Amino acid sequence: MNLSPQDTLKRAAAIRALDFVLDGMKLGLGTGSTAEAFLEVLAPRVKGGLNITAVATSERTAEKARILGIPLTSLDQLAPLDLTIDGADEADRNLNLIKGAGGALLREKLVASSSTQMVVIADGSKLVRRLGKFPLPVEVVEFGHGTTARRIMSVSAALGYPGLAATLRMKDGAPFRTDGGNVIYDCAFKAIKNAVKLGKALSDIPGVVDHGLFVGLATALVIARKKGVEVIERKHTIRK
Ligand code: 5RP
Repeated sequence: MNLSPQDTLKRAAAIRALDFVLDGMKLGLGTGSTAEAFLEVLAPRVKGGLNITAVATSERTAEKARILGIPLTSLDQLAPLDLTIDGADEADRNLNLIKGAGGALLREKLVASSSTQMVVIADGSKLVRRLGKFPLPVEVVEFGHGTTARRIMSVSAALGYPGLAATLRMKDGAPFRTDGGNVIYDCAFKAIKNAVKLGKALSDIPGVVDHGLFVGLATALVIARKKGVEVIERKHTIRK
């Protein structure tokens, strides 16, 4: 296997995350290239007799898991889950995250919030001091999405983020559609001052389905760098 340096780090984080997986566990499987690296290291364990059942957070992950022989079922069949393993676009040392570059933020949040543990795996480039340099994905219903986007901008201005650039995500010349059939606005907050406050304000806007701020969900962060793999664990888990 010829992996790029970044893919080698993603794989190292994925391998370390296997330590969290115990026989008999009910797992949530994240979306994205790092989450897929985890599927690749999990599959041989399953073939070797590890007994797990899983829920995928996207059609893309479900397809890959099926190809690799990882047993899948629905969230309703399996919840509550023991452990979700997922990637992130940004993570801070308090285990707050921005997710959703892969467009799976809604299912990812549903699955993570149904899990006792959420272990986030990433290469070192994802660890930040403050969230927001990566544009925050906000999933919006298609009906009136332009109006909802304007409301996102005005609510954000009132919270101290004036002139927010909210860009409709496109794919192949048309608005990108999530697995739930919604559209996404990528919102360039640049530096998020209070993730809880911003997340609540966004969730309160009619037409907003969800946003990519994951606060109080991750229980551990596995960060792989050239010099080694660091695991940052949360002492007190918050579960709603
Ligand atoms: C998908 C996500 C991904 O976890 C996130 O985009 C990270 O992806 P990658 O591991 O490919 O960098 O939130 O919705």
